[in-house]
Amino acid sequence: ASKYQAFRPIGLTDRTWPDAVLTQAPVWLSTDLRDGNQALIEPMDAARKLRMFELLVRIGFKEIEVGFPAASQTDFDFVRKLIEEDLIPADVTIQVMTPARAELIERTVEAVAGARRVIVHVYNAVAPVWRRVVFGLEVPQVMQLVDEHVGLVRRLTDARPDTEWVLQYSPETFSLAELEVSLEACETAIAAWGVGRPIILNLPTTVENATPNVFADQVEWMVRRFRDRPEIVVSVHPHNDRGTGTASAELALMAGAHRVEGCLFGNGERTGNLDLVNVALNLYTQGVDPGLDFSDIDEVRRTVEHCNQLPVHPRHPYAGDLVYTSFSGSHQDAIKKAFAQRRGGDVWAIPYLPIDPKDLGRSYEAVIRVNSQSGKGGIAYLLDSEYGLDLPRRLQIEFSQAVQQVMDTEGHELTAADLWQLFDSEYHVS
Ligand code: KIV
Ligand code: ZN
Repeated sequence: ASKYQAFRPIGLTDRTWPDAVLTQAPVWLSTDLRDGNQALIEPMDAARKLRMFELLVRIGFKEIEVGFPAASQTDFDFVRKLIEEDLIPADVTIQVMTPARAELIERTVEAVAGARRVIVHVYNAVAPVWRRVVFGLEVPQVMQLVDEHVGLVRRLTDARPDTEWVLQYSPETFSLAELEVSLEACETAIAAWGVGRPIILNLPTTVENATPNVFADQVEWMVRRFRDRPEIVVSVHPHNDRGTGTASAELALMAGAHRVEGCLFGNGERTGNLDLVNVALNLYTQGVDPGLDFSDIDEVRRTVEHCNQLPVHPRHPYAGDLVYTSFSGSHQDAIKKAFAQRRGGDVWAIPYLPIDPKDLGRSYEAVIRVNSQSGKGGIAYLLDSEYGLDLPRRLQIEFSQAVQQVMDTEGHELTAADLWQLFDSEYHVS
């Protein structure tokens, strides 16, 4: 039995509560080394790229977008290094991105020569504003662009039969485009790549411009067009402009998408790409194995901070420094009671803690801290757990008044050792 269970809203009967929970993990693609990297103040050098790649492999990603090799020599050389030094595990597929431009496609295919399996990711913008303002193209010209460039990928990759090739086509700006135009672009890509051959249709919210249910409706509309075609994988690539990237991904998965692209801790252009850690651990706390290993979340965070040279916020879901702390006395009291009553094998049901910190390599010690907002419960918990001092309730009340006085004058958090010292000075126990 799982330690976690899917949340069921109390009061909604089965009749009014649709079957809207996720029951299996999607295919994950990390684009930390491409979309994440392109948005860094200082893009990763070769050493940092390799550290990130090794981390992604350790976490368990089987599909990793390793760069935009036609854009920079660093990306090109990094992809060559992975292939020539045989650094890609047998069960991991690399993905490389290229815009729909002939010379960039040629360079991209050249970059991955000799790899075992590759996803070639081609994209072009399809939304009206981009067509009109950025490229000056009418819809038929957009379709011609897709046809020509996917056709070129097909010819170049057919000439290298030792590699197993998958095409990924992204109608960039999908969420801002007419569904019929996105569909036509996808159908054009499928035809140019070869009907029946493996293809990923990747639907981005290049700019997140609507509520997540709207994106999910757009995704569902597309998914319905590709039912019963197992060679077609529908993927989503949410950004986070409205701060709802995670919700967009989750609703899109419920709407039928099978794959998600994102970055660890939501790095990426502007407000970032979808946060993969967030979605994976949201699944985990609902009893679904995400197939990604975050059992040492601090190590993951340290490595990502090093590679991106960006800090993870202390309140970042699941990973921030402060997310397993409880400052409020009533919260501390509730947590203490729940820990005391918890038996091995119980479903996880600790108030205010949606996940057992131990599952991520974090400790209970940081859960309860004592400051001016705390009550007696937290104080008693720390003295008991750290010093084996089981205070009777009356003494808890009395001692918490002494602690409050110290707080009022000093104003900072007290550690278990501070509490012990104060207790000793009041009651002379040592
Ligand atoms: O956000 C986006 O639209 C992209 C595409 C290249 C998929 O990154
Ligand atoms: Zn993107």
